[in-house]
Amino acid sequence: MRAGIIGIGSFLPEKVVHNTELEKIVETTNEWIVERTGIQSRRIAEANISSSDLGAEAARLAIENANLKPEDIDMIISASSSPDCTFPATACIIQDKINAKNAAAFDIQAACTGFVYGLVTATQYILSGECKNVLVVGCEVLSKITDWQDRNTCILFGDGAGAVVVSNVQQGGIAASILGADGSGAGLLEVPAGGTREPANLESVKNRRHYIKMNGNEVFKFAVKVFEESIRKIVNKANLTLDHIDLIIPHQANVRIIDAAVKRLKFPMERVVVNLDKYGNMSSASIPVALHEAISMGKIKRGDKVVLVGFGAGLTWGAVLMEWA
Ligand code: UT7
Repeated sequence: MRAGIIGIGSFLPEKVVHNTELEKIVETTNEWIVERTGIQSRRIAEANISSSDLGAEAARLAIENANLKPEDIDMIISASSSPDCTFPATACIIQDKINAKNAAAFDIQAACTGFVYGLVTATQYILSGECKNVLVVGCEVLSKITDWQDRNTCILFGDGAGAVVVSNVQQGGIAASILGADGSGAGLLEVPAGGTREPANLESVKNRRHYIKMNGNEVFKFAVKVFEESIRKIVNKANLTLDHIDLIIPHQANVRIIDAAVKRLKFPMERVVVNLDKYGNMSSASIPVALHEAISMGKIKRGDKVVLVGFGAGLTWGAVLMEWA
């Protein structure tokens, strides 16, 4: 018995913001952003939209794609680096919006690895027999926690959502997974204020401490390392070699991270999905949106072995190897 993805959906805000528009806000150039990150544009949500709005749209599409009804979902796991609020869980807000009244609902906080953590958690609930259909949602409105005065970070992020339904499958499904964390790197990528360590106050707002802060160079090195290691580990765990892998779908943070890791693995770049040029880094939404695009574009065939690999704040990382049915 295996767990597998039986439905997928994604939803992106309509508004496209090109690099040239960022040239008007901070001291940067389109050329710098493209050369250093590979990003050309990103989607930005309207002011009245929160992560659960995008997540609920993606969730509806995933449930429809699975030929199910919202009441068939018995658990919702939402992963977001930009949740609607500290509590309640964004998953509960999504539950209400899609009217999935039979679902338990909770959030996972694993930043950009959130979708992978959610997918692995969902798999355990399916394999244990505790749940029949688990909805996993990665949803982000990062534009609202981005410091639009900080050129080091504001060029990177975008808004969007992706969702999958995980259920028992007769064929294919999730064959292996790994998760990891190193909390000693927590300070490398964070939103410092707004929690109990540094509660919101006038000073914290004045010092822009409710926005994303990142040590880009350190996170870059970490990302390349865990990307390579995670792929090697998961392929070993599934008793396969890299030659068996048809497609890698990595977290979409920076094309140079992807290039460097793929080069170390000696894996062909044509078998790696990259869509960050259009959407930037959508944290927990990057992987499900890229997976959905790859399926829609016919890049994944029945029987293909696909590896999802995520990495991000925490620090966290994780990978899932699945056979497409
Ligand atoms: O999703 C979670 C994981 N997140 C990531 O994986 C992000 C990882 N980090 C990165 O992708 C890269 O480190 C960045 C894209 C953030 C930065 O690229 P970099 O090649 O590491 O640049 P840098 O930080 O070393 O900066 C090089 C120069 C600096 O100028 P000096 O000190 O050499 O004069 C920066 O001030 O580029 C400057 N710079 C910029 N210039 C124009 C930094 N940001 C910009 C900018 N436009 N937007």
